[in-house]
Amino acid sequence: MENPFLTKGYLGPEYFCDRKDETEKVLSAIHNGRDLVIYGRRKVGKSALITHVYHMLGKKSLNVWVDLLPTNNMNDLVSYTASAILRSINSDTSIGKKVWDGIKSLRPAMTFDELSGQPSVSFDISKEEMRIKTFGELIQVLKNTKKKIVIAFDEFQQIQNYEEQNVESQLRTMLQTLPNISFIFSGSDQHMLMQMFENKDRPFYSFGQYLKIDRIPPDLYLQFIQKHFKKAKKTISDEDIMEIIEWCNYRTFNIQMVMNRLYSLDKKKIMEADVRKVKETILNEKGEIYYTIRRLVTSGQWEVIEAFAKEGEIEAPYGKYFMKKHGFTNSSIIRRAVQTCLQNNIFYNVYDHERSYYEIDDVFLRRWIMMTRRMN
Ligand SMILES: Nc1ncnc2c1ncn2[C@@H]1O[C@H](COP(=O)(O)OP(=O)(O)OP(=O)(O)O)[C@@H](O)[C@H]1O
Ligand SMILES: [Mg+2]
Repeated sequence: MENPFLTKGYLGPEYFCDRKDETEKVLSAIHNGRDLVIYGRRKVGKSALITHVYHMLGKKSLNVWVDLLPTNNMNDLVSYTASAILRSINSDTSIGKKVWDGIKSLRPAMTFDELSGQPSVSFDISKEEMRIKTFGELIQVLKNTKKKIVIAFDEFQQIQNYEEQNVESQLRTMLQTLPNISFIFSGSDQHMLMQMFENKDRPFYSFGQYLKIDRIPPDLYLQFIQKHFKKAKKTISDEDIMEIIEWCNYRTFNIQMVMNRLYSLDKKKIMEADVRKVKETILNEKGEIYYTIRRLVTSGQWEVIEAFAKEGEIEAPYGKYFMKKHGFTNSSIIRRAVQTCLQNNIFYNVYDHERSYYEIDDVFLRRWIMMTRRMN
């Protein structure tokens, strides 16, 4: 039997916990022609949600998923979109053939992945107008299929790093001439997405409806976990599961990781000692990376990281309370350390309703520091 606790990707509703409200909201946006901005922390389950929604939509629509993470410029964006379109269709069908021929007629360079056989196309268009035109033609190819079209741009924050100056206005020009297509913009940089879609002076102002992906309610996660353990005639206590969820700070990926390991133990009855062992094993495996982080930062920065580990959530890292409690005296040093850690994704700024606080982004790093420093 396969391990039902996936640590990457999506294999079907059976292995997907909850997200009923979110799924409804995405489907409703798609059916009613609203564009969507999906945001949430790293590894919370944004991409899995999109894949789940695509699964629900099935063949009724053409569901295109573009991962922008590897892209560096607008040319890449057009090329990756074209490649994603090819992957979203079945080339054996008449619609598929139409799309293939349509894309070929735009004369891209084509390659096939040696292992998977997946096609990749790439354009090399230096002129902005030509690129916009090609993108339009690409979409026209899709429209000829007469199907509903959904295009998700995942890891959308990547466009911030593009070489061009006017990326947003170029992209806006490309997208706004395309009615009857639902766009989903998804990413983990909440600040950037908010700026982009809420600032009146920017091209994407008011473009889409927001959907925040937050933690899965613990009681639903518990049910999901119990269901899979029972199915395999394995037992684990509700208390142990709740404790794990908390230990993982409600983070989807981390919970999946711990449950995956526990499930894979060759045992019918999971005991508290097994849970402890699995946690330790995971942290020890991560240790090498964490020691590297420690070597890469200055000792002053590491002290701040340790203080964050101890504290958990910190609302005012430059405030008297935090400084005094951890023996810091110079607030500008702390400020610089916090900024560096934010830039390097070691810390994360959480905006939770009215509250804003900082924490170590990787909860396993926090637990590792606590373990190695014997903190409680
Ligand atoms: N609802 C869910 N039920 C079970 N597992 C899930 C669920 N959502 C996500 N996962 C799992 O959690 C992990 C992280 O999910 P995913 O990659 O979708 O997160 P993400 O928010 O897109 O992350 P990133 O910011 O790195 O792109 C994956 O292993 C995925 O299989
Ligand atoms: Mg993702």
